[in-house]
Amino acid sequence: MKIITVVGARPNFMKVAPIHRAFQKYNGSITHIICHTGQHYDTNMSEIFFNQLGLPAPDYYLGIGGGSHAEQTGKIMIKFEEVLLKENPDLIIVVGDVNSTIACSLTAQKLHIEVAHVEAGLRSFDRYMPEEINRILTDSISDYLFVTEKSGLINLRKEGVDEKKIFFVGNCMIDSLISILPLTKSSNVLEKFAIKQKEYIIVTMHRPSNVDSAHRLSELVKLLNSISSKQKVVFPIHPRTRKSLESFELDKKLEGNVLLTEPIGYIDFIAMLKESTLILTDSGGIQEESTYLGVQCITLRSTTERPSSIEEGTNQLVGEDFNKAEKAVMEIMNGYEKIGTIPELWDGRSAERISEILFSNAMR
Ligand code: UD1
Repeated sequence: MKIITVVGARPNFMKVAPIHRAFQKYNGSITHIICHTGQHYDTNMSEIFFNQLGLPAPDYYLGIGGGSHAEQTGKIMIKFEEVLLKENPDLIIVVGDVNSTIACSLTAQKLHIEVAHVEAGLRSFDRYMPEEINRILTDSISDYLFVTEKSGLINLRKEGVDEKKIFFVGNCMIDSLISILPLTKSSNVLEKFAIKQKEYIIVTMHRPSNVDSAHRLSELVKLLNSISSKQKVVFPIHPRTRKSLESFELDKKLEGNVLLTEPIGYIDFIAMLKESTLILTDSGGIQEESTYLGVQCITLRSTTERPSSIEEGTNQLVGEDFNKAEKAVMEIMNGYEKIGTIPELWDGRSAERISEILFSNAMR
């Protein structure tokens, strides 16, 4: 069985690493090829994750880079079609909701190659988010829909997806988190940034709705300056956010207790997350990672496609409202704690379940 797995952007790497590992147990019955579209390309947005997750260098690197949605999606499709024509795989695996996910699914289906979508069924019900369009379209043309949480099952059933295609397997990103947790003990990230356990706040922000406009970004800067008077704020900055901050000359407005850093590698990031007072974010994956670790998470978005992080976990949504975000931060600083539980099947074995399903179906 020949399988090509696609990775493109930072959050994809941790979802694919456990799947690659699980395939190694099939003693060569599965030929696994990794294709990196190059949607993310900086060393600390890409290569560092391959190294830390034990992923081999990709078999194909398409070198697409940034661009408008149409440009990025179109370029990936053209280059990925060449890979598919050369390799003629039995199946491709795509993960998450980035442009590489929909671009490669569509290319494969047009060549009558089966598609498996890992992290299927998540819905924010906000079609203004590019990721929501990517999710809906990818799910609608996938043959295997691997679901991370119960809301995914409900959404896919409501959309009338054939029950035979849906598999509740749990969360591959949590597989990676569980496997690297022991390594975080040897991280020296706290010393490096001169921060102490439970005495700092982490901030990550990269959604276009939060960082692309000068107004929103200057509100964010005000919020960070304000909360940094209580505790040090560590702000590993995404390239999109850095570009905006610099172009609006807002980087100079950040005060001394806000530590702006380059994007941080996976092990250091998790080491830092684990010991933080709280994280303020608009990321999807971090809502899940903080839920698993029991860390307080405040999400600066009006919707989430990951409701289990709220219903069961430690996440809270404050809308796109900086005042509410500040209030929520202050409540936590004053001792409020949301107690969460770990959602079903977030047990480190999701990739094994996926490989068993794919292998047993191929044997039929
Ligand atoms: C993408 C995903 C988003 C995901 C995020 C995780 C889409 C539509 N968006 O958003 O769902 O949450 O990744 O990080 O797929 N850039 C660099 N270096 C890099 C990567 C990007 O400088 O290594 C620059 C790009 O050139 C571009 C900007 O950052 O100017 C944004 O990159 P892009 O891939 O378009 O989208 P993200 O905002 O990263």
